[in-house]
Amino acid sequence: MDNFTFYSPTYFVFGKDEEKRAGSLVKRFGGSRVLIHYGGGSVVRSGLLDRVKKSLDEAGLYYTELGGVKPNPRSGLVYEGIDLCRKEKIDFVLAVGGGSTIDSSKAIAAGTVYDGDFWDFYSGKLVEKALPIGTILTIAAAGSEGSPDSVITNENGMFKRGATGEAYRPAFSILNPELTCTLPPYQTACGITDIMAHLMERYLTNTKDVVTTDRMIEALMLAMIEEGPKAVQNPQDYEARANIMWAGMMAHNNSCGVGRSQDWNSHNIEHELSALYDCAHGAGLAVTFPAYLGYVYKHDVDRVAQLAVRVWGCKDDPDNREAVALEGIEKLRAFSKSIGMPVTLGELGGKEEDIPKLADVCCNGDGRDGFLYGFDRLSEEDVANIYRQMI
Ligand code: NZQ
Ligand code: ZN
Repeated sequence: MDNFTFYSPTYFVFGKDEEKRAGSLVKRFGGSRVLIHYGGGSVVRSGLLDRVKKSLDEAGLYYTELGGVKPNPRSGLVYEGIDLCRKEKIDFVLAVGGGSTIDSSKAIAAGTVYDGDFWDFYSGKLVEKALPIGTILTIAAAGSEGSPDSVITNENGMFKRGATGEAYRPAFSILNPELTCTLPPYQTACGITDIMAHLMERYLTNTKDVVTTDRMIEALMLAMIEEGPKAVQNPQDYEARANIMWAGMMAHNNSCGVGRSQDWNSHNIEHELSALYDCAHGAGLAVTFPAYLGYVYKHDVDRVAQLAVRVWGCKDDPDNREAVALEGIEKLRAFSKSIGMPVTLGELGGKEEDIPKLADVCCNGDGRDGFLYGFDRLSEEDVANIYRQMI
């Protein structure tokens, strides 16, 4: 196991009706003038936004609001939010929604207290300072409620990049599984796929002797395989929603990823799909992950076969680990299909003629050096081949 530092100071509040505590929690973490940031309207329709405002009113807090975050959140709204926060002297950003809203909130929180262009953080600069952020999560998926990360789409070129830094860890996150019961089956399945991808990105490691985190990842994946389909079939299943919501946080706050190298090539390859075709990130991952694994498994057949045996229930064959690994990849693809996810580029609206452009932006865009580095090093040609595997 490698050396590591792990600091995850988010205060989690989990369960029914806990959004009523939003006002007192903002106060507890030093907020007095709040920006409430939200998406395209689901929190308005569900009545959640009104409940949150009531809670802030009861706590005697000043607030202003900015809605309109789109899935795959855009740079334009971030600039708007930064201007608003400066004008209103905002000292706390409260995200009410999914990963896109939380990520947009994080970008606004960092940009408000930074003299330069907030995009610097999405070009590699570490986020060391930001306004405190609180989240009220409405979809179990991205894990941004516990992560030090944010992903934004640059509208000047339509490409997606991530930023990271401890200042991006939320001060508090309210997780009420009931809020996720209004999610339609497709969006639920996208979330399940993203959570499983966050686990697999960590499983694909080159670090030896990481039994504890291997076993944690396997346990969370098994829980998702058990609980995920229940929520897709019955959106009102509170217990399934609750199990998925906590798994989503655990999958991405990095407790399963410490002390080991991680992959993230699938996420980088997918980000170009959701940036160009504006598909859901989870749907893009359902297409990307099996294609990617089918291309790279030979880098460490035993590891991919181990995942197949321990998570997908494949029978081990020490004389033919390659067949075991390939069977596991097929089971992953079948699971995605069974919960209604796409598995081909065409289903995302993708076209074969776009592949050279996708691979170019992925490997060379915004300062990259022509390669992706992760489980294995991938050239632009490798990445183009992986996109071709999705056809
Ligand atoms: O915008 P509204 O109207 O709220 O509707 C949203 C949106 O259309 C809807 N929705 C959310 N909660 C709902 C609901 N509809 C009904 N009932 C509810 N309770 O769902 C749609 C998707 O929302 P979004 O926030 O985009 O979903 P998600 O949480 O999957 O976030 C995806 C974004 O997170 C990034 C992705 O790249 C993508 O941009 N990621 C962020 C990460 C991080 N910060 O750590 C890591 C991830 O790997 C990921 O890359
Ligand atoms: Zn993801």
